[in-house]
Amino acid sequence: MADIQTYVKQISETTAWIKEHTQMRPRVAIVLGTGLGHLAREIEVVDSFSYKDIPHFPVSTVEGHSGRLLFGRLGKCEVMAMEGRFHYYEGYSMQQVTFPERIMQQFGIEYFFVSNASGGMNPSFRIGDLMVITDHINLFPEHPLHGPNFPGGPRFPDMHETYDKELIQLARDVAKENDIRIVEGVYVGTQGPTFETPSEYRMFHRLGGDAVGMSTVPEVIVAHHAGLRTFGISVITDLGLEGNAVEVSHEEVQRAAEAAQPLMCTIIREMIAKL
Ligand code: HPA
Repeated sequence: MADIQTYVKQISETTAWIKEHTQMRPRVAIVLGTGLGHLAREIEVVDSFSYKDIPHFPVSTVEGHSGRLLFGRLGKCEVMAMEGRFHYYEGYSMQQVTFPERIMQQFGIEYFFVSNASGGMNPSFRIGDLMVITDHINLFPEHPLHGPNFPGGPRFPDMHETYDKELIQLARDVAKENDIRIVEGVYVGTQGPTFETPSEYRMFHRLGGDAVGMSTVPEVIVAHHAGLRTFGISVITDLGLEGNAVEVSHEEVQRAAEAAQPLMCTIIREMIAKL
C-alpha cells in the first residue's frame, strides 16, 4: 500500500495525464459494471484510454470486464465512463479499487453512476429485477478510508444520504415513464469471491439487506467522501432465498445481467439526459 503522500501524488499525476490527453471535462462519471456494459456502445467516444496506458492506473483481470477509460457524449451529456472495474477479490488493495473515484474527485466530476450484479434476498424480488440502491451495509474486511485522511473530504463522513435522494427519485420517474419495473433496496457489500451459503443469505437478509454483491461499496464510500452525488443500481441475477436450491454460477450471473442490459441502459441514459 502506498503511503498517503505517494498516493495523493499518484492521483495528481494521473489526473494531469488525463487532462493533457483529452479536452473533455465531463461532470458525469459512470462505472459500467455488470449490466451496463452495452451503454459503452451508445457513447459517442471522443477519447479512449486503455487502463494499461494510464500512469498508475490498475488493470482489470476478471472475465467479462475489459479495461478502458472512455470520454465522450451520451446523448448531449459529456461523460467519463469506466469499462471494467477493480474488485477487492481480485487482490487489489482498497487504494487501487477506489483509485478511479479519486481521479473523478480531482477531475471535477459531480455525478457518479455505478452498476453491479447481486443476489436477491428480498422475497419479492425476481431474477432480472433492477434494484435501485437506497443504502448499503459495508461488510468488506478493510475500510477504503482506513489510514490518514485523503485531502478534500471529512475525516468522519456522515453516511445518512450516501445514495442521492434526488437521483433515486429521478430513477423512479424514468422507470415509470419507460414502463420499467424497478425495485429498491439495501445492498450488502461482501469481499467474495465465494457466493453466499444459504445461512449467509439468510443472515444478510435478517440484517436488513435486500441484495448482496462483491463490489460497489468501496467505490461509493470514496465517491461520497469525495463529495460526488452517487447513484447505484443492481441487477438481481440470482436469488438467495430460503428453500431456493438453484445454484449460482458466474455464467448464470452474466446471463441474467445480459438479459437485463437494455432496461438498465435505458434507465441510466434517460437519467443522465435529465441532469
Ligand atoms: N452473491 C454475491 N455476489 C453476487 C451474487 C450473489 O448471490 N450474485 C451476483 N453477484
